[in-house]
Amino acid sequence: MKLNGRSGRTIWFDDNKKHTIYTYDQRKFPHKTEVYEIKDSETAAKAIEKMVVRGAPLIGITAAFGVYLACFETQGDQTFTYVQERINRLRQTRPTAVNLFWALNEQEKVLLENKDLGHYELADLLFDNAVRMMKEDEAACKAIGEYGLSIIEELAATKEDGEPVHILTHCNAGWLACIDWGTATSPIYQAHEKGINVHVWVDETRPRNQGANLTAFELQQQGVPHHLITDNAGGLLMRNGMVDLVIVGADRVSRNGDVANKIGTYLKALAANDNHIPFYVALPSSTIDTAIASGDEIKIENRSDKEVKYVYGKNKAGAMDKVLICPEETPGYNPGFDITPAHLISGLITENGIKTASEEGVSQCFMSVEL
Ligand code: MRU
Repeated sequence: MKLNGRSGRTIWFDDNKKHTIYTYDQRKFPHKTEVYEIKDSETAAKAIEKMVVRGAPLIGITAAFGVYLACFETQGDQTFTYVQERINRLRQTRPTAVNLFWALNEQEKVLLENKDLGHYELADLLFDNAVRMMKEDEAACKAIGEYGLSIIEELAATKEDGEPVHILTHCNAGWLACIDWGTATSPIYQAHEKGINVHVWVDETRPRNQGANLTAFELQQQGVPHHLITDNAGGLLMRNGMVDLVIVGADRVSRNGDVANKIGTYLKALAANDNHIPFYVALPSSTIDTAIASGDEIKIENRSDKEVKYVYGKNKAGAMDKVLICPEETPGYNPGFDITPAHLISGLITENGIKTASEEGVSQCFMSVEL
């Protein structure tokens, strides 16, 4: 996708200087585009914890590169134990997005199969495995867009001349959350590229405002028409016939098709259901946790109440600032994600096609089909 007129991915490296991984500091968008260097496994862990990088797929790939970097922090007999310890450290960074654990398990398999390799040889294998996952995520997001496009095309066919398809999205499931394309945004970008008239309602997504800071920024960079709305506006818009389709991303999907995604997703699904508006979840199959039966088993991240009590933004002088919006003494409560039950979901848009949010549909998400 394009950023300041240039195309690229969210994570990259110099071919001749692979010990440094580069990404964007997502805490600075939309006001500043700042590149963030990751040179060791602890910086990778901190980047995830402090939300320099965020979004389920990007968290996973960053962690995978963190495991690779760990190889340069040790040598000799210590290598296996040290890299295993760093994998365990990276597992502690954020609890909800399963892509983190998926990517770390993929790296752990390589480690376990190559226990006796020296640290340089092991590093090469872990690097190649991280690059494989990165490329697979990019390809998955592109395919999600191709399948999701058909839903937008069908809605566009029902429109009078010039009338856009109005799509509501929550949080940022865009290319900044992945390697490229995004999940929820991929069908939107592909529809826009094809000349289909789309318009996006962007939920601000309090408390961290990933909708306002990231999704609105992405759409503005790609030239996709959009409006920023408060998190509470969606219900009225749906009731007034101003939303044709809701597409969101996912952090973890259980075997029965329940979806964990950014806090507030569930309320949008309820409003969409009440107004007979299709509600789709877009995800790569790496977001499915086959080890759990239902959303009740998904651990929800509990975040600092400071995120609720303060609002961050750019002040009139152009500096980043935070302001308190409640009495100092008022305690806040800040769950980061919620669960949308499968029965509220019209379908799961995956790299392997659009599936029902059900035990059968979820099992089919892993089966590839011809595009
Ligand atoms: O807390 P965040 O910003 O990591 O949460 C991100 C989301 O909830 C996204 O919707 C989800 O990870 C899907 S990303 C394609």
